[in-house]
Amino acid sequence: MDISRREFVQCAAGAAALGLGANAAVASQEEPRVKLRPAGKSVVIASANGQGACARAMEILQAGGDPVDAAVEGVSLVENDPNDHSVGYGGLPNENGVVELDACVMHGPTHKGGGVAALQRVKNASQVARLVMRRTDHVLLVGDGALQFARAHGFKEEELLTDKARQIWLKWKESHSGKDDWIHIEADVEARRRMERDGIEFTHGTISCMALTAGGDLGGCTTTSGLSYKIPGRVGDSPILGAGLFVDNEVGACGSTGRGEANLINCSSFLVVELMRNGQSPSDACLTALKRVADRTESRLRDEHSYPNYQLKLYAVRKDGVVGGAVMRGKGRMAVHDEGGFRLDELRGVFPPLPDQER
Ligand code: GLY
Repeated sequence: MDISRREFVQCAAGAAALGLGANAAVASQEEPRVKLRPAGKSVVIASANGQGACARAMEILQAGGDPVDAAVEGVSLVENDPNDHSVGYGGLPNENGVVELDACVMHGPTHKGGGVAALQRVKNASQVARLVMRRTDHVLLVGDGALQFARAHGFKEEELLTDKARQIWLKWKESHSGKDDWIHIEADVEARRRMERDGIEFTHGTISCMALTAGGDLGGCTTTSGLSYKIPGRVGDSPILGAGLFVDNEVGACGSTGRGEANLINCSSFLVVELMRNGQSPSDACLTALKRVADRTESRLRDEHSYPNYQLKLYAVRKDGVVGGAVMRGKGRMAVHDEGGFRLDELRGVFPPLPDQER
């Protein structure tokens, strides 16, 4: 980058005023430690519930589409699916029986992002988030404002609570005693396990999907109905850039599923991208970030071995097409679609499986 002496002096003076030291003025053009070149092939990754999403996203990439469009059109299939109780239509509701959705998108080439949180009555939160990015000067709209914005763009309003999800919520409501999100008891893990054994479904489930074009452009989307039976208005990590999703076109992208609160206070997706910028592989970066989350976990959320008693999963793709991920507990899987077709990659866990964990 060419800058004049006068501009350099102005920048340096500004940096000094901020106490950043003499090199800060020229350090803003950060290069990745390893120069990452596009792989020349399209790649899509997603959480394990994203097989259909990956296939749809890959079709869009192969037709020359934009990576955010690929990710959003992919996850929209899951948002529309009444049988996925963690996302969109049919998602599990808040403690009042109302479905509230969170989503965000981020576009590498323009470094723009958009999100919606606590959106009611519109199932494709990902598409509304994409419009926040493309049609407003804002990044995040919440609650009634998000709904009004969706309405203005002609989204259909509908009841998102399916009969099946309502039955699951009713069972939870009838079973809980002191088991809600108001922290008034310390050791509520056993109560939750008892309810899970009684067939009551709990979820932090989410779908996160990231797309890489053959030319090395990245985009992503994370969308969810959030923590089941949450306090109304609770917002998780999914709509928050840097937590539920982060994309940097120079380096790569990372998305997450699992306990949003643990991710929100650690900005793990941003951290994973920074670790990849500094040369770590996607899998190692995800493991490092999860270890940091684990180190900062409060005692209330640790089991008898002092391991975090929750699940958190990170998925990452680098600009050069290398993919990887990691999970906090047990093993996990990640959906991957590249030009060789679809596969489920096994992800390493930081700690042993949770009790009753399927995988
Ligand atoms: N990761 C989804 C949530 O916690 O809302």
